[in-house]
Amino acid sequence: MRRFTSRRLAPACLAVATVFAMAGASAQPAAPAPAAPGGKIKVGFMLPYTGTYAALGTAIENGFRMYVQQQGGKLGGRDIEYFKVDDESDPAKAPENATKLVKRDQVDVVVGTVHSGVQMGIVKVAKENNTLLIIPNAGVDEATGPLCGPNIFRTSFSNWQPGYAMGQVLGERGLKKVVTLTWKYAAGEQSVKGFKEAFEAKGGKVVKELNLPFPNVEFQALITEVASLKPDAVFVFFAGGGAVKFVKDWAAAGLKDKIPLYGSGFLTDGTLEAQGTAAQGLETTLHYADGLTNPRDKNFRLDYAKTYKLQPDVYAVQGYDAAQLLAAGATAVKGDMTRKADLYKAMGAARIDSPRGAFTLSKAHNPVQDFYLRKVDGRENKVSSVAVKALADPARGCRL
Ligand code: PHB
Repeated sequence: MRRFTSRRLAPACLAVATVFAMAGASAQPAAPAPAAPGGKIKVGFMLPYTGTYAALGTAIENGFRMYVQQQGGKLGGRDIEYFKVDDESDPAKAPENATKLVKRDQVDVVVGTVHSGVQMGIVKVAKENNTLLIIPNAGVDEATGPLCGPNIFRTSFSNWQPGYAMGQVLGERGLKKVVTLTWKYAAGEQSVKGFKEAFEAKGGKVVKELNLPFPNVEFQALITEVASLKPDAVFVFFAGGGAVKFVKDWAAAGLKDKIPLYGSGFLTDGTLEAQGTAAQGLETTLHYADGLTNPRDKNFRLDYAKTYKLQPDVYAVQGYDAAQLLAAGATAVKGDMTRKADLYKAMGAARIDSPRGAFTLSKAHNPVQDFYLRKVDGRENKVSSVAVKALADPARGCRL
């Protein structure tokens, strides 16, 4: 796991070059309409390739491409053509960026994104155009809640899910007083909401909810405030480059052995090499872990390490499964992506043989999946137990 070190710079530059090359290519005169049988299936990646979530976007794309490669480069009998947009984790640019893929490039499917705020813009554009959307990370609850739709699918999680799982774990351990700390946007806020729902149902109390703007990493004042509140524990949501910095700052402040730190598993996924000793022993909940024993995971990890010279993480799994879900639909319609009703029906009914363990989708198209309790040991988020089995997001407000 080297993606936060300088050794990752060469591939990162290559990725950026590809983005520009592709942007240039697709700025040519109007692209042909979405492919009918015979042509290529057009896949539009809208992901962060710069900023605090850059490594997450790359891992998702890597996972997706690896599955397609394993199928000989074809899904539903058709070749795949890729288009890319760097969304920069910037919600303000999301509608325009999504529209580029949908209208200019006329993609058959948008695969995106990581950031919950950006996701809201993509969902809007996908709904307006009845474009197939597969969300390979962003947990924004609305996408499989009030904004759910026949063409909107997710292979990751809702923000509520991993938070809820950790709330259950800490509630069952009998903790009483917890402070939360997150970035102030949907991912952080909704994680805390899920955590609080489960934790307070078991008799605990969230005594203070602290936050800072995304993607700010000036944690010092907030860390001092947490310490002054003397809670039984702190629950956080941070991810990517910000998670690396937070875990190091927490340890440097001398709090690692004083106040137990818990989080949704993004805190320590894809980040352990950069976090080093600061992360050792941290416990988190997530729908993926190191040390799972299913054969699918074993093969996935071997192939990923061989292909990318990297260990995979949860983001790579979610990208891989986005391709698997698309394959289920494309196979059912024999590559005819214009048969939308049949495509959506087959995808909704799919059982995905994921490295995380097999999962199905809820009626709102969000994974119904096990959440693992994990503990950092060396460079691994080692599975300790299943914290909550087959956890389904409540999909409040979804009418499908
Ligand atoms: C989100 O914005 O929904 C988000 C971002 C990064 C993560 C998880 C969730 O690791």
